[in-house]
Amino acid sequence: MQILAISGSVRAASTNARVLEAAARLASASVDVVLYDGLETLPYFNPDVEARGLPPPVARWRAQVGAADALLISSPEYAHGVPGALKNALDWLVGGPELYQKPVGLLNPSPRSTHAHAALVEILTTMAARVSSEASAVVPLSGRPLDAAAIVGDPELSLAIRSALDALVRAASTPARGL
Ligand SMILES: Cc1cc2nc3c(=O)[nH]c(=O)nc-3n(C[C@H](O)[C@H](O)[C@H](O)COP(=O)(O)O)c2cc1C
Repeated sequence: MQILAISGSVRAASTNARVLEAAARLASASVDVVLYDGLETLPYFNPDVEARGLPPPVARWRAQVGAADALLISSPEYAHGVPGALKNALDWLVGGPELYQKPVGLLNPSPRSTHAHAALVEILTTMAARVSSEASAVVPLSGRPLDAAAIVGDPELSLAIRSALDALVRAASTPARGL
């Protein structure tokens, strides 16, 4: 099973990216967690460009989403919203079938960042993804600059990530209703 992990932050020292790296280490041997690294390569979404043909980074993004059995997103909140880079990436999926009924888990390293989480649930549900509340978790780093190894070594943080991963694998193993 393959899970595509997407950090909503393009910051080099991103805590969201570290949480996803920890998820890759905590996943069982049968689960391959692949970190998407192309958020910054995507042009701004433009339906005119889409109509002319997908730019290669967009084609790669869509192919990676399409090939994944599930998505795991960890995102910061900026000004009570979803970071523009992540929203842009999601906008490029609106015109394709890749996200349809795809199980999605949402990790959140900041307990106070409730607006972006709610917005992501709304956006992804509108796009017909299957957002799983069991596969979504607050991973309370609360600003601590922990690396992936420290997150894996923290019992509370690793339990939250493992539980979300287990639920995401279960969701990906369950056929969507009506399919
Ligand atoms: C411009 C800016 C706006 C932010 N706005 C919010 C906000 O509205 N709510 C919140 O909880 N955190 C906010 N934050 C804090 C970030 O969500 C937090 O620093 C997050 O951990 C960054 O994720 P990263 O470490 O993966 O880059 C903001 C940070 C920046 C730089």
